[in-house]
Amino acid sequence: MYRLFIRPILFLFKAETIHNAVFFLMGIPGMKCMLSFLFNFQDPRLERKIAGLTFRNPVGLAAGLDKNAKRIDQFAAMGFGFIEIGTITPVAQAGNDKPRLFRIIPDEAVINRMGFNNDGMTIAVERLKSRKSTVLVGGNIGKNKVTPNEESISDYEKTFHALYDYVDYFVVNVSSPNTPNLRELQDKEPLTKLLSHLQKLNQEKADKPLFLKIAPDLTDSQLDDIVEIIRETKLTGIIATNTTISRDGLSADPKMVESIGAGGLSGKPLTNRATEVIRYIHDKSNGDFVIIGVGGIHSAADAIEKLKAGASLLQIYSGFIYHGPDLIKEINKAILKENL
Ligand code: FNR
Repeated sequence: MYRLFIRPILFLFKAETIHNAVFFLMGIPGMKCMLSFLFNFQDPRLERKIAGLTFRNPVGLAAGLDKNAKRIDQFAAMGFGFIEIGTITPVAQAGNDKPRLFRIIPDEAVINRMGFNNDGMTIAVERLKSRKSTVLVGGNIGKNKVTPNEESISDYEKTFHALYDYVDYFVVNVSSPNTPNLRELQDKEPLTKLLSHLQKLNQEKADKPLFLKIAPDLTDSQLDDIVEIIRETKLTGIIATNTTISRDGLSADPKMVESIGAGGLSGKPLTNRATEVIRYIHDKSNGDFVIIGVGGIHSAADAIEKLKAGASLLQIYSGFIYHGPDLIKEINKAILKENL
C-alpha cells in the first residue's frame, strides 16, 4: 500500500517538508490506533533478550528520524521493536542551512547534512516523560557544534545524566559526518578517554547497556582499534553503521550527486559496506559483544543477511522512507520463516 499509493504522493514534496508534515499527521488523535491496525505485527518468537533488556522484536528505528522523541508512541504502534531517539545534544541547535536532506530515488538513497538539529536534552526529557508506550527506547547522544572536541566529554556527560532515567540504552555517536571534526573522536586516544569516562559514570549508576555508533568509512586497522577499545571499556557493543561520506555505488548522474554537495549517504548504496563492517567486527570480537546492524536494509533479504553476518538487532531509516512501515512486518515475518 505504501509503495503504490502513499510514497508517490510523499515524494512529490521536498524531503524535509514532508518529514515535518508526516510528523504532524502522526500526532492526530486516533492515528496510533490506525497505524497499529494497519501495520503492527508481533509474535512471541520474535522476542530477544539482549544485554538485560527484552526487545519485543529485533527491528528498530534508527537514530535521526525521531530525533526529538516526538512520536515514540506512534512508531511503537507501527510495530518497531525499539526506537532510538537523537542524536541529542545538551543545548538545542538549528543544524545546517536548508536544503540539507535529499533523496536519490533511482538508487533508493538519501544524502543528509542535517547537522544534529535538535531541541536539546531538556525538551527531550519532557517528551520522554509523557510517552505512553512501553517500547524500549535508546538515547543517542552527541556534542553541540560549538563545543570543541577537547571539551566534548562534558557534552556527552551532560546528555548522559539528563537522559539516564528515561532511556533503556545509550548510544555514543562519534560518527556523524555533519558535525565538523566529530569523527576524529573515533581515534584511539580520544575514544578510549570518552568511553572509559562514560562507562565509569554508567557503572556508578544502574549500568545501562552502552553502545558505540561507528562510521562505515573506517579502515580495518581502525576497526581493530575499536574492537580493542570496546573490550577494554566493557561496552555492550557497536551500532554499525552510520552514513558514509563515500559516493560509491550510486547509479545517478554524478553531476547531480555532486551538485547536492557534502553530507552522509544512506540507503541501498550502503547495504554491502555496512554488512561487511558487521561481519568484520563479529569475527574480530569472536561474537563477544552485541552488534546492532544498520545501513541499507531495504528488504527482508537485506535484514537476514545482516543477522547472518553477526548482528543481533537491526535498525532501519532510509529503507523505511522508501518502503514504509510494511518493511518492519516483512522483516519480522522473514525472521520467523528462517527460524533466526
Ligand atoms: C541519520 N542518521 C543519524 N544517525 C545518528 O546516529 N544520529 C543522527 O542524528 C542521525 N541523523 C540522520 C538523519 C538522516 C536524515 C538520515 C538519513 C540518517 C543515520 C541513521 O541512523 C543510519 O545509521 C544510517 O542512515 C544508515 O541506515 P539506513 O538509512 O541506510 O537504513
